[in-house]
Amino acid sequence: MNIILFGPPGAGKGTQAKALEEEMGMVQIATGDMLRAAVKAGTPLGLQAKQMMADGKLVPDGLMIDLIANRIREPDCARGFILDGFPRTIPQAEALTQMLTMENKPLCAVIELKVDENLLIERVSGRFSCAHCGTGYHKKFRQPKVEGVCDKCGHTEFACRADDNPESMKTRLAAYRDQSAPVLPYYMEKGLYCSVDGMAAAESVSKQIRDVLANRA
Ligand code: AP5
Repeated sequence: MNIILFGPPGAGKGTQAKALEEEMGMVQIATGDMLRAAVKAGTPLGLQAKQMMADGKLVPDGLMIDLIANRIREPDCARGFILDGFPRTIPQAEALTQMLTMENKPLCAVIELKVDENLLIERVSGRFSCAHCGTGYHKKFRQPKVEGVCDKCGHTEFACRADDNPESMKTRLAAYRDQSAPVLPYYMEKGLYCSVDGMAAAESVSKQIRDVLANRA
């Protein structure tokens, strides 16, 4: 099963994609994570993307489309994949349709996580992750079981994202409204669009997503 998790910054796409990956064995394809890895490694893509990401602007379509075209051909994607953060523009959505048709990997659903803007800002401003294994936490909504110690790997260093600041968040929300939200009608027309209440607790959002997928399987 191949799906898209869609929503603004902080909607919970990464949180839900990881839960689905663990429960259902599908592969999470998170373009933000791929770009951050490229930035860290100092690859040509990373060098081009670094400042745009820090400012909260979208990386050019051509770069993103090439990145995904290569990724979905990798063998692990045969298990089914969860696109998290792609597509984010109409040209990206159109290119994805072409790639998936050529690869015979149809989409099963495009699931929008609906969350009010105030809560998005609270979620993004409280987010941090383990500097060693990347496990995500939140100051209010998801603290480590033992303060200052990662639940998963036991390391004690944490990091915040360069774009999780008020100025970049304004730009990211504007990019979502202007460039990404118009992608939703594209999938409505294809009969793939569904939505869930992303304001609910993470476990409840996971259940809603499982229910959507059960109805579509
Ligand atoms: P990306 O990394 O994709 O960031 P984003 O879309 O801004 O999304 P986030 O990662 O901020 O949020 P999320 O929805 O995954 O929420 P999360 O689960 O972490 O992209 C970063 C940048 O890369 C872009 O700005 C752009 O520059 C570039 N880029 C990436 N893809 C691109 C593309 N296709 N085209 C062009 N440029 C691209 O949750 C947030 C917090 O809330 C966490 O702390 C979590 O614990 C908490 N939380 C989650 N769900 C709940 C819940 N239900 N209840 C309570 N807390 C919750």
